[in-house]
Amino acid sequence: MSDTISTLLDENRVFPPTEAFSAAANMSNPDIYDHAASDPESFWEGWAGALHWYKKWDSVLEWNRPYAKWFLGGKLNACYNCVDRHALGPRAVKRAIIFEGEPGDIREISYMELLDEVSKIANGLLNLGIRKGDRVCIYMPMIPELAMTMLACARIGAVHSVVFGGFSADSLHERINDAQAKLVVTADGGWRRGHIVPLKATVDEALDMGCPSVEHVLMYRRVGLPGNTINKIPVPDYNVGKWEPIRDIDWNEHILPLSTDCPCEEMDSEDMMFILYTSGSTGKPKGIVHTTGGYMTGVLATTRWVFDLKEEDVFFCTADCGWITGHSYVVYGPMANGATVVMYEGALDMPQKDRLWRIIDRHRATILYTAPTAIRTFMKWGAEWPKKCRLDSLRLLGSVGEPINPEAWIWYHEHIGKEVCPIVDTWWQTETGAIMITPLPGITKTKPGSATRPFPGISATILDEQGRDLMPQHLMDVKEAKWLHSGGKRPSIGGYLAITRPWPSMTRGIYGDPERFVNTYWTRFKDAYFPGDGAKADEDGYFWLLGRVDDVMLVSGHNISTMEVESALVDHPAVAEAAVIGKKHEVKGQAISAFVIIRAQFKQHDGLIEELKAHVAKKIGALARPDDVIITAELPKTRSGKIMRRLLRDVAEGRALGDTTTLADPAVVSALRDKYESMEG
Ligand code: WT7
Repeated sequence: MSDTISTLLDENRVFPPTEAFSAAANMSNPDIYDHAASDPESFWEGWAGALHWYKKWDSVLEWNRPYAKWFLGGKLNACYNCVDRHALGPRAVKRAIIFEGEPGDIREISYMELLDEVSKIANGLLNLGIRKGDRVCIYMPMIPELAMTMLACARIGAVHSVVFGGFSADSLHERINDAQAKLVVTADGGWRRGHIVPLKATVDEALDMGCPSVEHVLMYRRVGLPGNTINKIPVPDYNVGKWEPIRDIDWNEHILPLSTDCPCEEMDSEDMMFILYTSGSTGKPKGIVHTTGGYMTGVLATTRWVFDLKEEDVFFCTADCGWITGHSYVVYGPMANGATVVMYEGALDMPQKDRLWRIIDRHRATILYTAPTAIRTFMKWGAEWPKKCRLDSLRLLGSVGEPINPEAWIWYHEHIGKEVCPIVDTWWQTETGAIMITPLPGITKTKPGSATRPFPGISATILDEQGRDLMPQHLMDVKEAKWLHSGGKRPSIGGYLAITRPWPSMTRGIYGDPERFVNTYWTRFKDAYFPGDGAKADEDGYFWLLGRVDDVMLVSGHNISTMEVESALVDHPAVAEAAVIGKKHEVKGQAISAFVIIRAQFKQHDGLIEELKAHVAKKIGALARPDDVIITAELPKTRSGKIMRRLLRDVAEGRALGDTTTLADPAVVSALRDKYESMEG
C-alpha cells in the first residue's frame, strides 16, 4: 500500500478537457456542484423527473439513519423505463443491444425487438408461478438473454439475483439459498476461451446440495450439444448436465411460443428491485439490496453526465452482468437513456489479443468502460495490438474496479484514447449502486490515478480513526481548486473515505441481515456511510483512492474476502489453519497468497499445493484461485491470537518487516520469510 501512495503522490500531470469536448458536453457548467450541494434533494428530484412514473412521488426523502427512502409514494417500472418507452417512441428501430459471441456470432436487437423478447420471458416467468417480490436467480453467460431476463424480472416485479457465471456450484448454492430463490434461469453453457463453461451442470450440482426453495430451472440453449457449430466453430465436449423433467424447463418450448404482450407491474419507488451478492470481510457473501426509484434515478443521471451519453453513442462496458457494473452500465443506466450497448461474451484474447479493439472498430463504439486490470493486461500484450485497429470511433474512456495506476492511465490515454479522449476514473461499489466519485468530462481537469470529485449531489469526505473530518472546507469548493500543482510531493490528507449524506441509489440493506448492514457500514462512523476504502485528498480537494482498509481483496477488480478463501482452504482435509492476503500484482492489482498449516496427521504429497489451489477454485470459483500457497509450520499471531496479515503482506511483497513488537513469537515471521524467498527463487 505504501508503494501505491508514493507513486500516486508523485503524479503531477493534469489533463483539462478540450474546448471542443466541453462545448458539446451534456454538462459543462462547474456551478452545478454548488447548485447540487445547496439542495441535493431538489437536484435528485430533477433527475427522477427524467424517468417515467405512473404516479409521482409525494416526498423526496425520508432519512432515518441508516435507512433512506427516496421518492416516497412514487410508482414506476424499471423495465418500462428501459424498454417500453423507447420501443413505443422514436427509438423503436434503434439498436438496444449489439452482441458478439466469442465464436464471432453477431446479433443486433432493436428496442422494439427487445420489448417483444422481454415480454415473452416475463410471461414465461408468470407461467412458472413467479410473482412480484419472488426471487429469481440468474446464472447465465454474457448474452442478450441475460439482460433480457433481468428486465423481464423487473417487468413483473420479481427480484433478480444475478450470480456471475464463473462462480462454483458451492457459491451458487449458497446464494440461491440465502435469497430463497424460487427459480433459477440458466443456459446450457457459455463460451470462454474456446471452452464451454458448463452452466447447467453446475446448477444441477448446486441443487443436488439442497435448494428447497427452487421449484424450476429454466434453461436457454446458448451452445447446443457438442458437435453443434456456431459461426462454423464446433462446440467442444462439455458436461451438459442432466435433464430432470418437471423441474427443468426448456426455453425453446416454454418461452419462444409465448405472447409478446405482458403488462408492467406498477412498482413502488421503494419496492425491492434486485439483490446482488458481494464479498465482505467475513466468509459469507452479502446480498446487497437495491430498490426501484432511487436506483434508477442514480444510474440514469450518472450515465448521462459521467459518460456524456448522446443519442448516437455506442456504449461498450466490458463488465459481465454478474457484477454491479454490468447491472448499472450495461443494462439499467444506458437503457434508461435509450442507448445502444455492446455486449461481448468471451475472453479478450480470442481468437487473438486484439479482440476488444476489433469489436470497437466493427461496431464503431464511441464509449469504452473497462477495468485497470484489463488495461494492464493490454499493456503487457503490447501496443502493437491496438495499433492495428482504427479506434477512431472512440470519444470517451472509463475505468472502474480499483485504483488505476498512473502508468496504466497514461497508456490508456495514449494508445486507446489517442490523447484526445477524456478518461473518467469512477469510484463506486455494489452498495452505492451508481458512480460516486468521478470526473465530469466536460468540466473536470483529470489527474492520472485520481477519481477526482464526488458527483454533484454526493457528499464525501475523509475522516480519521476517530471520525474527525480531515477535509478543510475550502477544498470542498470546486471553484477554489487551484487545479495545477507546483510540483514535488503534494500535501495530502489521508484517512477513511466517508459519504456524509444519503443518495438515491444507496443500498437499502443486506438481504436478511439488518444487523450486519448496520455493523458493516454505519457503526464505524456516527454520521456517515463507511465504504471500507482508504483515501487521500490533495490540495485541489481531489480524492485519491487507496484500496480497501478491511479484509477484502481486489483481485482483477473483484471483491474477494480473505476469510472466504481461508474457509475454502480449511475445508480441505489437509489444512489445519490458513491465512490469506492480497499481494500486489502487476496485472491483477492483487493476487491471492495463502499461508497454510498442514494437519500433523496428514501425509504431505507432491501436488498438494496444486490440489489446494484447485480446491479453492472449486469451492468459490476460478477467480479465487490463489497464486501462491505457502506451507508453513506457524503463522504470525499477536498475543491475543489474531493473525497479523500486515506482516504476511510484508513477507509476500518482499518488504522490510513492519512493527513486530506485538507478535507472540517474532521468530515465526523470519522463518516464513526464508521459506518464501527460497520458494520464489
Ligand atoms: C470496491 C467496490 C463498482 C465497480 C466494481 C467493483 C474498489 C472500485 C474504484 C476506483 C479505486 C475502486 C473500491 C470499492 N473500486 N472502483 N475507480 N478507484 N477503487 O464493485 O465489487 O462492489 O467493489 O472496488 O475498493 O470499495 P465492488
